Amino acid sequence: MTKSLIETLTALEAHLHALRETDPGPLNISRKDISELTSIPPSPAATPPGKPLGAPAKKTIVSSSERPSPSTVQLSEIAARIAVCTRCPLQSTRTKTVPGQGHPQPELLFIGEGPGSEEDQQGLAFVGRSGALLTRLIERMGLARDQVFIANMVKCRPTEKGEGRKDRPPAPEEIEACLPYLRQQIAVLRPKVIISLGNVALEGLTGLKGITRLRGKWLKFETTDLMPTYHPSFLLRGGGDDKARYWEVWDDMCEVLRRISRPVPEIHTRRPES
Ligand code: URA
Repeated sequence: MTKSLIETLTALEAHLHALRETDPGPLNISRKDISELTSIPPSPAATPPGKPLGAPAKKTIVSSSERPSPSTVQLSEIAARIAVCTRCPLQSTRTKTVPGQGHPQPELLFIGEGPGSEEDQQGLAFVGRSGALLTRLIERMGLARDQVFIANMVKCRPTEKGEGRKDRPPAPEEIEACLPYLRQQIAVLRPKVIISLGNVALEGLTGLKGITRLRGKWLKFETTDLMPTYHPSFLLRGGGDDKARYWEVWDDMCEVLRRISRPVPEIHTRRPES
C-alpha cells in the first residue's frame, strides 16, 4: 500500500471514529463506509470503476473493487481533519462534527449557517425541519439532494453560553476559524454556483450585510458565482412553502437554474392565489 493511501485511510478511520461516538477498536473500512461518510450517490461519475485500492493489507481494509474518485477522497480527508479540529471553543460542546455532504463534483453548493441539534446528533448538514424545506426546494428545482453539496459556515453546533441547549448563530471568530475548511471544500467541489442561505453565510462569504437587499443579486465568492437567498429557517418562521418569501427564494433558484443552463420547471413559476 502506498504512503498516501495509508494516510487517506488513516484520515477516514479518524472520521469514522468521530462519527461513531464510541471508541471502537480497529475499523475495517469498506467502500460502503467511504460512501456513507460523504453521502455520495453511487453514480458512475462519482465512483468510476477502477483497480482495487492497492494490495490487500494483513486486514482487509478495502473490500470493494471500486476506487473512490479523487474528490471523494479529498473531501473525506477534509472531513477527517474537521473531526479532530480544536480551532475554536465549539469543539468542546459538539457531539459530532458536521462537515457537509453530497455530490463530490456538484453544480450547486448550498451553504447554511451552522449545525443545529439534529445535525449535531447525526453529523449531517440540514437534516432538521429547515433541511426538509431545503430538500423540497432542491427537488422542485428538478434535482435530487445527493446531486448537490450541502455545507455550513461552521462545522460544529453553536449554542448559547456553550450549554448545548439553545442554538445561536456562529460568532465571527468561529466563522473565521472554520473558513479554511470551507475554502478547502470549495476548492475540491468546484461548484458552478454557490447558494448562500441567510445573512450569516452571505456575510461570511462576501463581507456584505443585508440579505433582504442583496438576495437574488449575483455576487462572487472568489471566482465562483454566488447567489444569496433567504435561509430556510427564516422561511419556516414566515409560514414555510408557498408564502411570499418562499417565492422570492424560488425566483432566486430559477435564476440559478438559468445560470447553469438547466430547465426551469414551468409549474413552479406560477404563484398560488393569495
Ligand atoms: N441546519 C444546518 O445544517 N444549517 C443551518 O444553517 C440550519 C440548520
